[in-house]
Amino acid sequence: MSENWTRRDMLKSMGLASLGLSVTQLNAENFIKKQYYFNYDGDLPKPERKITAIIAGAGNRGNVYGNYALKHPDELDIVGVAEPIEIRRQRYAEKHEIPADKVFYTWEQLFEIPKFADAVIITTPDKLHYGPAMKALSMGYDLLLEKPIAQSWQQCKDILDLATENNRIVAVCHVLRYSPYYRKVKETIDSGVLGEIVSVQHMEPIQHEHMSHSYVRGNWRREEDNVPILLAKSCHDLDIMRWWLGKSCEYVSSFGSLKWFKEQNAPKGAPLRCTDGCPAEKECPYSALKIYYRNRTYLHHFDLPDDKNLWDEAIMKNLEEGPYGRCVYHCDNDVPDHQVVSMQFEDEITANFNMEAFTEYYGRRTRIMGTMGDLVGDETDLYIHNFRTGEVTQWNVHENADISSGHGGGDYGLARDFLHAVSKQDSSLLTSTLAASMESHLIGFKAEESRHTKKIVQVDIRKV
Ligand SMILES: NC(=O)c1ccc[n+]([C@@H]2O[C@H](COP(=O)([O-])OP(=O)(O)OC[C@H]3O[C@@H](n4cnc5c(N)ncnc54)[C@H](O)[C@@H]3O)[C@@H](O)[C@H]2O)c1
Repeated sequence: MSENWTRRDMLKSMGLASLGLSVTQLNAENFIKKQYYFNYDGDLPKPERKITAIIAGAGNRGNVYGNYALKHPDELDIVGVAEPIEIRRQRYAEKHEIPADKVFYTWEQLFEIPKFADAVIITTPDKLHYGPAMKALSMGYDLLLEKPIAQSWQQCKDILDLATENNRIVAVCHVLRYSPYYRKVKETIDSGVLGEIVSVQHMEPIQHEHMSHSYVRGNWRREEDNVPILLAKSCHDLDIMRWWLGKSCEYVSSFGSLKWFKEQNAPKGAPLRCTDGCPAEKECPYSALKIYYRNRTYLHHFDLPDDKNLWDEAIMKNLEEGPYGRCVYHCDNDVPDHQVVSMQFEDEITANFNMEAFTEYYGRRTRIMGTMGDLVGDETDLYIHNFRTGEVTQWNVHENADISSGHGGGDYGLARDFLHAVSKQDSSLLTSTLAASMESHLIGFKAEESRHTKKIVQVDIRKV
């Protein structure tokens, strides 16, 4: 308890001042109801029976949902896997004790045998969402579908039509909707304390090393293999803004480009790989030797041996031969490293979104302006300023939730809600249904149209 008060005092003196807020009263607990999720995902409703699921794609995300099954064996049993990379397939099959006849190389193969589980969890790369989603729905599986839904608006519509026709449950992994922090923002808006919402400013700081890992060297560096980065990285943000406001976006405009990570910005004499004796290696913030070898960060796509004593050699081999050792100025990347999106929502609400590679920090920054109050947040602390009373309420995520999974607890929150919805065969128990996720994807596709045509574009889900 005393620890909490110390922290609050510190925030009072430092945090609010840095956010430019005046403190009239901190923790007006009767305004924003305090609640503590002792075990955040554990406190959400459990499925009524154990759900069986097959994993298509045993990479990073496939393991996130797989680990949920290991943590909650009474709720989820992984009974099949499809994965082309041998070490991943083997590890996954062993971890979940999957019999050999339910272990497949590709998603196509797993659908060659009759339906053998309640659901398919689609965690394949972006360009392999449409195929398995359509096939799984046609065979009567429910779906936990990683974002983005698919690569084009037409494909998204096909999936929605088939899910509706076959009456299947599809949850899109817009995980932020399930985290305590984002739910608190939504609850604050819905409580009316801010009055009518007038405008929103929201920024996603990708963080510069993370940008280099995923969007310069890594899997999401090329648009044609994935989706535009606005959808690959920031469909969460478009979705969360649409969800908070509960209103439709009417018009969108967007600008952005790949400014920095290209050949002409390479330091003099930089070779194609950081391992080839780069003269700028020591001071380069994007040095692969620094990020992966010395700091041992962003290793989740490396398939390292279980024995950590072998890591030095394995990491170095990856850097010498694989995509992550390449100089960030000599990659085949084409996705923007900065993009802005301006939106006009119903009821004259304006919203602005920034996707930024060049930050030292993570944690989405949000400011929501209403007629009776404003909200400022950074994914950890929320400050709600009530114009009527002059009170400021502070809500800190660590003081209010015990978070045990990624995306601020959203990963396991989503998994639990999906399983609950499947067990009751009731998609209304989900917030991130396919239908609900479609409109935010449409904003993304239309923003890209605007960026390419340099025109303001109308967003009207009834007309597409
Ligand atoms: N919800 C989120 O916040 C979030 C976060 C990260 C990634 N994602 C999305 O999740 C998906 C997976 O991302 P990841 O980070 O796990 O990538 P990953 O590369 O770690 O995993 C994808 C796996 O799919 C496998 N695969 C490739 N072709 C296949 C095929 N034909 N059949 C079966 N499996 C195949 C790959 O070998 C790989 O192991 C992507 O669509 C990504 O955009 C979502």
